[in-house]
Amino acid sequence: MSRSGASKLQGRLRRARRVAVLTGAGVSAESGVPTFRGTDGLWRQYRAEDLATPEAFRRDPGLVWEWYDWRRQLVATCQPNPAHRAIAALERDAPEFLLITQNVDGLHRKAGSVRVVELHGNLWRVRCVRDERTTENLEAPLQDIPPRCTCGGLLRPDVVWFGEALPAEDLRRAFEAAESCEIFLVVGTSAVVQPAASLPMIAREHGAYVVEVNLEPTPLTSTAHESHHGKAGEILPHLLGLTPVPGPPSPVPQGPPCSP
Ligand code: OAD
Repeated sequence: MSRSGASKLQGRLRRARRVAVLTGAGVSAESGVPTFRGTDGLWRQYRAEDLATPEAFRRDPGLVWEWYDWRRQLVATCQPNPAHRAIAALERDAPEFLLITQNVDGLHRKAGSVRVVELHGNLWRVRCVRDERTTENLEAPLQDIPPRCTCGGLLRPDVVWFGEALPAEDLRRAFEAAESCEIFLVVGTSAVVQPAASLPMIAREHGAYVVEVNLEPTPLTSTAHESHHGKAGEILPHLLGLTPVPGPPSPVPQGPPCSP
């Protein structure tokens, strides 16, 4: 495995027909969205693992919605960064492509990504717990907490919580991409939450060239063919040999989150 800046990736990308990318919270960190396991991942005294569960929602839907309302307000002020835009540019050049993201912030689509599987759902969709209908909801801050469906049932964020199954069709597409791609790029994930964490291993077992970009080593690092340590927004555009598509200036220095 080479950790040097000289990447074999660009030549491989020119020849590849099938490319897949897996992203995690780190790809949005430079946009100001807090990661899950970083020290900035706390809200009040709660950890994400304590609030992102069906039990927490049953116990106190108002508290869980207050947290999501805070996250939605925060994300609403954030813009895609050069890493999001580099991944969107990569998609435009790849005949077959799938972006598998664990992020619920919607910033990849905002950057122009189209072939996207949002494995853990999306903050901007809500689902009625009674009639199961999903709808887009962009209201931030919410007027009523917890919000209700027109049928009177409670609305919940349409995201996957701890202990819940991932959407079967999304999971199928993610595994299919991992099994069939020639290049598998992994960006900004701690690679500890299953089943997403197993996708790079599956890709490698099926012959893909696996490249990781992360601030620091992860459990995946020893599996990857190349592992690049640093900020995704700085590394990715160079690594991919892409001129990032111009976008609004983003708060590149990693620091305090965008203010809600
Ligand atoms: P984590 O918070 O676990 O990990 C973020 C990763 O991004 C870490 O490995 C950081 O080193 C890295 N990182 C931070 N800033 C970076 C930057 N600027 N450039 C590159 N890398 C950077 O987030 P995830 O791996 O996404 O699940 O977490 C996976 C899942 O666990 C989440 O989707 C969520 C969470 O619990 C659910 O909510 C179901």
